[in-house]
Amino acid sequence: MFEPSIPAYDDNFNYDFLVALVLLGYWAVLARRLHRLPHAPTAARLRRSSRRLALAAVIGALFVPARLVTSLVLYGYGWHFAADRLLIGVPVVALPVLATLVLTVPALRRLGAPAPQGAAETEPAPATRAAAAAPRVSFPARAVAVAGLVSFVMILFAPAPPLLLPALVSYAVLALVLVVIWRRHADRVHAGMVRPLPRGAARVRRAAVATGAVLVLIGGYAGWDWQTSKLPDDYRMTEHAMTYGTGPGPVDHAAHTHRAGLPDRPLTEFTGPAGKPDKRYTLIATDAKLKLSSGATVDATAFNGQIPGPELRVRQGELVEVTLVNRTADTPTTVHWHGLDVPNAEDGVAGLTQNAVPPGGSHVYRWRAEQVGTYWYHSHQASSTQVRRGLFGPLVIDPAQPGPAGVREFVVAAHVFDTDKGDTSTLNAADTLRPEAVAPGTPVRIRLINADNFRKYFTLAGTPFRVSAVDGGPVNAPTDLHRTKLMLGGGGRYDLEFTMPSAPVRLTDLAAVGAGLLLSPDGQGDLAPLTDGPEFDPTRYGSPAATPFGPDSDFDRSFDLVLDNRPGFYDGQPYYLWTINGHVSPHVPMLMVREGELVKVTISNRSFLEHPMHLHGHHVLVLSRNGHRATGSPLWLDTVTLLSGESYELAFRADNPGLWMDHCHNLTHAAMGMTMHLGYEGISTPFHAGRATGNTPE
Ligand code: C2O
Ligand code: CU
Repeated sequence: MFEPSIPAYDDNFNYDFLVALVLLGYWAVLARRLHRLPHAPTAARLRRSSRRLALAAVIGALFVPARLVTSLVLYGYGWHFAADRLLIGVPVVALPVLATLVLTVPALRRLGAPAPQGAAETEPAPATRAAAAAPRVSFPARAVAVAGLVSFVMILFAPAPPLLLPALVSYAVLALVLVVIWRRHADRVHAGMVRPLPRGAARVRRAAVATGAVLVLIGGYAGWDWQTSKLPDDYRMTEHAMTYGTGPGPVDHAAHTHRAGLPDRPLTEFTGPAGKPDKRYTLIATDAKLKLSSGATVDATAFNGQIPGPELRVRQGELVEVTLVNRTADTPTTVHWHGLDVPNAEDGVAGLTQNAVPPGGSHVYRWRAEQVGTYWYHSHQASSTQVRRGLFGPLVIDPAQPGPAGVREFVVAAHVFDTDKGDTSTLNAADTLRPEAVAPGTPVRIRLINADNFRKYFTLAGTPFRVSAVDGGPVNAPTDLHRTKLMLGGGGRYDLEFTMPSAPVRLTDLAAVGAGLLLSPDGQGDLAPLTDGPEFDPTRYGSPAATPFGPDSDFDRSFDLVLDNRPGFYDGQPYYLWTINGHVSPHVPMLMVREGELVKVTISNRSFLEHPMHLHGHHVLVLSRNGHRATGSPLWLDTVTLLSGESYELAFRADNPGLWMDHCHNLTHAAMGMTMHLGYEGISTPFHAGRATGNTPE
């Protein structure tokens, strides 16, 4: 049931990086030495250098198998973790290294052959110098050095599939540089004499020209990237590229209409049901100075003046109506129902499903509570700042048939607030230990919500417990866990259940071990927090049960996503970008589906941070994690946290037509481009996003 988090992906990535870097440095030095060989002062020195350089070339060749090994280790994490290396990075270097072994080494052996007995030790003969200046002596090594640079830069820029374009660019750049080097090489020997190495002003000029050329190249690329990264002031999410994955493409692309000539349907048609609501709530967004339990103050934006916002608790089947009223000074906002697969127009995404509600304005959301479990709501306008400042709250849907009476429930939202004392980890805005009295024998349910950007580790000391639900969905046949550590990605939820023992129980967020929730029979006493333990693996927990589809189903369409990082610009600012298939929003192609299709999504995280990927409007079934089929209870998630080096195969039924966000729930990543959309063919949005429109969903 337990598996350590993905072993050492960072280390293995770094080994590969290091080998590539050392290879580059080694061959750059070797190429320079080989280039200078003809200018050895004496015949003896030239012979000795030749022998040493031959040996050095053979040793340097070993970097190729070394790089192959480090690439194959990465291949162990999945094809996408090594494809660029195996198809481009390694072969690009291997070819010139082979040329070195076949052409250069024998030539060096000849140059290094011992002098005839009694030969006078003098300057090398012109013919010997000319032989040492032959292209075969230094050209292949210089090619290795250039290829090593290409191969190294490729690691930094991490090309995503399809790799054809990066492959063509790499080989083209390499070929171009080699042509230049070759042409210079051609006139090294003039009338049987090797031209002297450039000195003084000539040397400086050459260096200046070379550096200038490199700078122009880098500057040109950076300038282009900088300019094209600027976000349009006004755009529609549907204007950008689309991908149909492996399934059939657009029905009538040329006419920009779909479904055999019918015009697009606006997503505003997909609203919640009409009728008298069973539950009504009003969420009033306000600016508020609020205090954590320690007294630290938060400059908050909050629903109904509290952080987290009020708990919305409804019963399955009820029609819910929530009115958002904006009373902030200058914070347009929305409400998104995280994990609820509501009709598209109720999804609360500014610029996609509605306009942000301006200060003084209001908006009504209506949806029927169909899914039982723990969910949450939060702003989806400038969410990276608004959620951080407190515009979120818990949402619980109780089953239509009430469960056993007498259960004590604790709904606990973990969140990091910016306070006057710095970043502070909290559970329901408490940054100190919160004691609660619970009578022994009482059934307890803790609904844990990670409302933060980063993954959190939780422990429960003092009792065995069961994880009874994940992302709201019930776990089939959960078993007791003992002293287990729970990793919960940003946006995710776990429900924990146990029977209150006669001694204290303590829930701890390992980011703030002094705080937490302390349950005891009399609300007194203490218990040391549990600070470590084996890690819970939801893909192997509980028992299998029937699912409407699974790993062996016939999929109508599949998509392959690679999450990564690379240097680049976002909206005119330089960053280390978080990319999806090499792109940042709004340039990540929209995943296009048709209603009713069974869709498979494979995601691989090559970047060095975790990404909690959240698809709106749908729950995905986990088919496999890191190449291993999920063997436990069916695992339906709305937020799938991929650690560095992890990969998942997911499946969902396209049964909720609309245009849906699909983004990293580290909201700062989403705001910096790790955002894409799922689009149903034939559906459009009337809403615009971009600075000029006031709608900035992330
Ligand atoms: Cu919890 Cu797109 O969000
Ligand atoms: Cu992320």
